[in-house]
Amino acid sequence: MTATYHVKTFGCQMNVYDSERIGELLEAEGYAPAGIDTADVVVLNTCHIRERAAEKTYSDVGRLRTRPAAPRIVVAGCVAQAEGAEIIARAPAVDVVVGPNAYHRLPALLATGGVDTEMPPEPKFDALPPRRATAGHAAFLTVQEGCDKFCTFCVVPYTRGGEVSRPAEALVAEARALVAGGAKEITLLGQNVNAYRDGEVTVAGLIRRIAALPGLARLRYTTSHPRDMADDLIAAHGEVEVLMPYLHLPVQSGSTRVLKAMNRAHTRDSYLRILDRLRAARPDIALSGDFIVGFPGETDADFAETVRIVREVGYAQAYSFKYSARPGTPAASLPGQVPEDVKDARLAELQAAIGDCALAFNRASVGTRCDVLLDRPGRRPGQLIGKSPWLQSVVVTDPAARIGDLVPVDLTDAQPNSLTGVPVTRTDPPLTRAAA
Ligand code: SAH
Ligand code: SF4
Ligand code: F3S
Repeated sequence: MTATYHVKTFGCQMNVYDSERIGELLEAEGYAPAGIDTADVVVLNTCHIRERAAEKTYSDVGRLRTRPAAPRIVVAGCVAQAEGAEIIARAPAVDVVVGPNAYHRLPALLATGGVDTEMPPEPKFDALPPRRATAGHAAFLTVQEGCDKFCTFCVVPYTRGGEVSRPAEALVAEARALVAGGAKEITLLGQNVNAYRDGEVTVAGLIRRIAALPGLARLRYTTSHPRDMADDLIAAHGEVEVLMPYLHLPVQSGSTRVLKAMNRAHTRDSYLRILDRLRAARPDIALSGDFIVGFPGETDADFAETVRIVREVGYAQAYSFKYSARPGTPAASLPGQVPEDVKDARLAELQAAIGDCALAFNRASVGTRCDVLLDRPGRRPGQLIGKSPWLQSVVVTDPAARIGDLVPVDLTDAQPNSLTGVPVTRTDPPLTRAAA
């Protein structure tokens, strides 16, 4: 009987990408995909970014251990990198611990059991089987890994190592394979994708090369650090047609004092000036961001600056988190740790402000026309849901449409988390969204 596997993914899109590659690797070894309740091998691709995320690893191991036929358990990802052999000491049911830079060695590890959290010199991407032709219409492509920024709250520089870029040639080839397999949209991924560099090729250069692939309708990239928003990248937003008018550019806090303590290397003002330049290049660009509330020493006044920057920028979307002290990071031992109830109250207030902005952004889209890339079924029969260029979810009722289609719609109604789109049958010139 064929051995089976299941990969469960936590954390960021880079883990989603790694999970796909792990699946391809195991299938090349003869494994077949299966559900988490029956698979012979279960890979937990973990996240260490906040305490709650890391704890999920252990609760999942506990559940898997008591399955009628217990699977072999692999802990991969950032918890694996951060905790290594301690995982097996704490949870002996775990057979293999493999870090994000070593998972190409998983087949050998499955034979022996054990821990591999090395960051080996041989690049894992060279050792992995080629991308299979998936029917994915919106695909991820990791172009850069690791981070040298050392924000004082963050574990990523420790779990993913320093910034490393993949060769541009290999990336253009992988992008071509994704498009040949049906991808209409590609998102270039990196912990700090703007730091991408291969010789003379910057992330803007890579964007231009991949944008030129015939058949690719949409290109995105994430995540960006404000301090690496180079001139050529800002210019690309005005010039590269398939580059979508949307940018995830986390600011973390609206208070320059807190940003300094976070070691973010940008201020409130320098961040806002970058947005001015982006909007000059691409007037309809939508912004999204990440925020941390309750960073050590954050006062009510600092927090008020964060709420103010949210309203000032008018984010289309944003993610907000309570500060979580992470072992080994400088901020974990700072004085002035903020009590949990204060963090809760600030998070609720910030999320309300973000919700207001998202609704205002969606309402401003009503009455315009755009293309929607359909990616999943809706709740009602005949409904499909897809993404607008600004990454809004749009619900479309069109019996003739299929998942993977790029359909022009008129946006007729807005809710906080989605819009209604009516398919356009005429061939009128596309309406563009009014600048924010
Ligand atoms: N490389 C990306 C993403 C990092 S992790 C970037 O720099 O933007 C995603 C988000 O998690 C961060 O932007 C931050 O808002 C949040 N985060 C990271 N560490 C955290 C911590 N210790 N506590 C709470 N949120 C955290
Ligand atoms: Fe973490 Fe900062 Fe690097 Fe982002 S830029 S991964 S928040 S250290
Ligand atoms: Fe989490 Fe690692 Fe991504 S810590 S956010 S999975 S880089």
